[in-house]
Amino acid sequence: MPLEKQPLSPVREVRDWAPDSWQRKPAAQQPAYPDDDALRRALTELRELPPLVTSWEVLALKRKLADAAEGRCFLLQGGDCAESFADCNASVITNRLKVLLQMSVVLVHGLQLPVVRVGRFAGQYAKPRSADSETRDGLTLPSYRGDLVNGAEFTAAARTPDPRRLLEGHAKSALTINFIRSLIDGGFADLHHPEYWDLGWVQHAPLQEEYQRMVEAIGASVRFMETLAGEAIGNFSRVDFYTSHEALLLHYEQAQTRQVPRHWGWFNLATHFPWIGMRTATADGAHVEYCRGIRNPIGLKVGPQTTPASLLRLIDLLNPDNEPGRLTLIHRMGAVQIATALPPLLHAVRSEGRRVLWCCDPMHGNTETLANGVKTRRFANILAELDQAFDIHAACGTRLGGVHLELTGENVTECLGGARDLTESDLARAYKSTVDPRLNYEQSLELAMRIVRKCGGVVRSAS
Ligand code: PEP
Ligand code: CO
Repeated sequence: MPLEKQPLSPVREVRDWAPDSWQRKPAAQQPAYPDDDALRRALTELRELPPLVTSWEVLALKRKLADAAEGRCFLLQGGDCAESFADCNASVITNRLKVLLQMSVVLVHGLQLPVVRVGRFAGQYAKPRSADSETRDGLTLPSYRGDLVNGAEFTAAARTPDPRRLLEGHAKSALTINFIRSLIDGGFADLHHPEYWDLGWVQHAPLQEEYQRMVEAIGASVRFMETLAGEAIGNFSRVDFYTSHEALLLHYEQAQTRQVPRHWGWFNLATHFPWIGMRTATADGAHVEYCRGIRNPIGLKVGPQTTPASLLRLIDLLNPDNEPGRLTLIHRMGAVQIATALPPLLHAVRSEGRRVLWCCDPMHGNTETLANGVKTRRFANILAELDQAFDIHAACGTRLGGVHLELTGENVTECLGGARDLTESDLARAYKSTVDPRLNYEQSLELAMRIVRKCGGVVRSAS
């Protein structure tokens, strides 16, 4: 008998599934390792390493996502498009936490709802690519697939997939999560001390005053509650963070798929919340096969090509028991397509009574390449998609319960627009992403404020 206090679904094994059953299906986006023995050795080692998260945390997050689907809290998921091994350092990690904490304060205050914070971190090291190879000046090499697979530098040595990177990815994820846990346990996320989250390099940010006013209002409420209670209220001194990454490199995910003594079934213990990317979200593909058998909450990216029938089929596979919190549908349509592409999906899921959490990723449908080859996103388009997303959900009688963003606490210039109105000529100044362009601190905070202004009442009142 399992010892879970509130089972989320009936105890049962998933039929015809094993951690390696994905290997019998077509697996898109996997690297071609030149040395099978080296891969086997790395995976044997990886299987023996301790897990990065626990099944208890995974199930706790699932409950929170179930709450978000019901409008009892709001999901804030964000971080780098791709983490890099070189950026596994104290300042990049703390700056990213600071941005997420500041955004969540804005959301908690404005929406009057708890926020579930999920980072795209501690494992977001593998990237899907549109082509397997890249040619420069007559030289063709494998595409860069993220630090978990190969190096970004355009040399044969760097671009050859190297299985030892699987172990380095696990180690860097462990270092990241260890530091985040220590910061939180040490009081970094204490609501009594929002000044801990100030970013050193931010001066005269256009929205700083508005943010400070919110922080002061929250501080006053916390003090008021504590005066009433006659003691410090412990919950205000810590907030939780959960981890997420795209479950792309299936050998890596399989090696960290474990059984635990106190819960039935299999868990991916490399992350709390794996998601299936848009390029691998096919019903007969290996990624869906792998994810259907683990008990973690699963994210599924949904794009403009997704049809109601294909979505319902994916839901059947990934959440056959209609378990609350199990499935988050992350739509990423683009500002131009969302008005036509999203409503049929919302109607289909709603009319079939499928329980899902809807989350908007306003980043990936709005990527564009400038004449000089630089990839960017216009802040105005990101806002426009998000804005429409709230309206469309309200019109369809569904609820938008979260956002999924690519952002960083570094002072980058990768997306155009925002309060400082970054232009094409600003992009060269601090463009650091090796993959997709991210919101910088000011753009992230502005986006959080826009969500609040847009939907202070909508999130809670939609049925
Ligand atoms: C991503 O989230 O970085 C990504 C590649 O997204 P999508 O699968 O939606 O294109
Ligand atoms: Co991306």
